[in-house]
Amino acid sequence: MRIDNLDGPLGAEVSGIDLSAAVPQADIDAIASAWRERLVLVFHGQTLSDPQLIAFSRNFGALDPPGPNPYGEPFNKQHPELNVISNVIENGKPIGNLGDGEAVWHADMTYVDVPPKAAMLHALEVPPPEAGGNTHFANMFAAYAALSPQLKQAIAGKIAVHDASTNSAGMLRKGYKPVSDVRETVGAHHPLVRTDPASGRKALFLGRRPNAYVLGMSVPESEALLDALWAHATQPRFAMCHRWQVGDVLMWNNLSVLHRRDPFDPKSRRVMHRSQIKGDERVA
Ligand code: SIN
Repeated sequence: MRIDNLDGPLGAEVSGIDLSAAVPQADIDAIASAWRERLVLVFHGQTLSDPQLIAFSRNFGALDPPGPNPYGEPFNKQHPELNVISNVIENGKPIGNLGDGEAVWHADMTYVDVPPKAAMLHALEVPPPEAGGNTHFANMFAAYAALSPQLKQAIAGKIAVHDASTNSAGMLRKGYKPVSDVRETVGAHHPLVRTDPASGRKALFLGRRPNAYVLGMSVPESEALLDALWAHATQPRFAMCHRWQVGDVLMWNNLSVLHRRDPFDPKSRRVMHRSQIKGDERVA
């Protein structure tokens, strides 16, 4: 197995490994270490059944099942601990979540008290390269480090609410009402700055922009602060872009990166299966 850092502020490619087979513990340890340091790992050329994706994921902790989706039932009936991300409609029903539009910058499931620490996404079908659907990741350690002293001071000790009502494609999840006043947003409360328990490094922890609110501020103050933070955190200098090929597996550090997906041609098929690993503790 080889691990080569990608150019840029995050990302590494892991090669010379077949994730469908049992992976030696020394390789799991090296993968976990690169995941902590480089935050996004890219494995090409993998052919994984759902049980094989589950088995590889379990090397890093217990699986965290997907949150509620707009349709109110798991997409993957046989393996409800996996999510399906897809625009494909079969027999009049979507086989997966998020459709073909943009999925806005977000981290996964930060609307729960202990969000997943890792996610793995396995590409089974992808649009042709010119059709869109690339996924971007931004390094929140780098974004925090580059904040102005004024913004660092403005967010120290501040807590924000992370909206549970909509997914990153803007669709209302089953059982939620649309938010009309961000002071009433339903979702977990987390600090805007996370300290990584292993390294002591600080990272911005933003979750998702729609319906977010900084507790204790007036709505205009909260909106202005969040707009400034999001404009800063999603700059290309902190980000990488992944152009998918069939067989790719991406493994990301959900507490330390944001990600967003470009829209893609609705006439093309995109099918991905995703696992998540439970977080260890509340974000602090
Ligand atoms: C997601 O936001 O988890 C999905 C990313 C993607 O479709 O590439």
